[in-house]
Amino acid sequence: MNTTTPASPEALRAAMVDQLAAEGTLTSGRVERAMREVPRHAFVPNASLDQAYDPDLAVITKRAQDGAALSCASVPSVVAMMLQQLDVRPGQRVLEIGAGTGYNGALLAHLTGDEGRVTTVDIDPEVTDQAAKALQTTGYGHVHVATRDGALGDEDDAPYDRLILTVGAWDLPPAWWDQLSVGGRLVVPLRWRGQTRSVAFVRESDHLRSEDVELCGFVPMVGQDGEHQGTLDPGGHVALHWDADQAIDPATLSGVLGQPKAEVWSGASVGLYDSFDGVWLRMTATEPGTCRIAADPTAVQTGLCTPAIPTRSPALVEGDSLAYFTVRRLEAAEGTERRSELGAIGHGPTGHQLADRLCEQIRSWDHDRTAQPTITAHPFRTPAAELTAGQVIDKIAARLVITF
Ligand SMILES: C[S@@+](CC[C@H](N)C(=O)[O-])C[C@H]1O[C@@H](n2cnc3c(N)ncnc32)[C@H](O)[C@@H]1O
Repeated sequence: MNTTTPASPEALRAAMVDQLAAEGTLTSGRVERAMREVPRHAFVPNASLDQAYDPDLAVITKRAQDGAALSCASVPSVVAMMLQQLDVRPGQRVLEIGAGTGYNGALLAHLTGDEGRVTTVDIDPEVTDQAAKALQTTGYGHVHVATRDGALGDEDDAPYDRLILTVGAWDLPPAWWDQLSVGGRLVVPLRWRGQTRSVAFVRESDHLRSEDVELCGFVPMVGQDGEHQGTLDPGGHVALHWDADQAIDPATLSGVLGQPKAEVWSGASVGLYDSFDGVWLRMTATEPGTCRIAADPTAVQTGLCTPAIPTRSPALVEGDSLAYFTVRRLEAAEGTERRSELGAIGHGPTGHQLADRLCEQIRSWDHDRTAQPTITAHPFRTPAAELTAGQVIDKIAARLVITF
């Protein structure tokens, strides 16, 4: 006979928060208290309690016909990280874009307290309907829920002290600047050069300056289509993703992977659990041709293209040549840690030089693996002479400048 009593939602919630605190993800006492209080399971009624309180699980609540996630309750560890970046104070006015289940809206209401005001918006009326109901039943009915395109923000309660996106953005539309107070914070999962980082910006009069930049992944925002995609081989097994401001032409690169390859190794290595995503971030600050390469299983098995992470790795493109980021296993002496060396594979007339340059970026990253870039964002009309120094990445509404 099984006599085990299933764990209560309260016990599972406490365990989730304890784990986030123990692993160092939760460092703010205020965010910790909010996460201990808000009943996440009530916002994801179709998930099991174990799923609702898994610290590393996003609970998908709506899918497109092709199976792609349209809405979800974000991964709790990412929710905690972003709320800490947002640094909400009692009494503040907060706008969230991407209401989803309403869970984060409830956490924000907890953080702003009785004197604060929280508005959360979502583009999908079915989603806002559910979020409003869940907020009502959990005692957070005072959160204002609206159905609208988040690119427009929500003027009704502007200016905001804090603005948070819980959906992946490619651009920074004017409404977000206009509706944020000077000194206010904008936390946004921002995508550039094929990778996404949660950037905590502070508004300084006419521009935004980053204070913290963290790795994350999010469903993309509806209506921001600044990324292009093309395939590199006739079989369509290898795709390239690049930004609107980049002079990358897949027709010029067609068949490049069939040309002889140049392998270059950096001398930098990682252990099994070490992250190397910072290489990509560093490349975006120095190499204008940085983009994303994605190889399907056939491409990897046949050796056509073997990026470090097949579905998402950085590549460097210039004209008719490219190099991409790769890894190889190093021999380990008995009883020592198994490590992999980071390197690059180049193809095309200047593929070798590009692979050399990519390896230079790996070595710069290796020199200081936790270094963070400074990112400034300026309105698109800002002349080049008025931008801060660094690598300029032009979006449609904004100009980003990235420096290490
Ligand atoms: C990851 S979910 C948000 C999770 C939510 N914060 C929570 O606590 O459950 C992303 C949401 O963004 C919404 N979304 C996508 N594009 C949008 C847009 N242009 N404007 C507003 N919301 C959008 C989706 O409908 C989806 O519900």
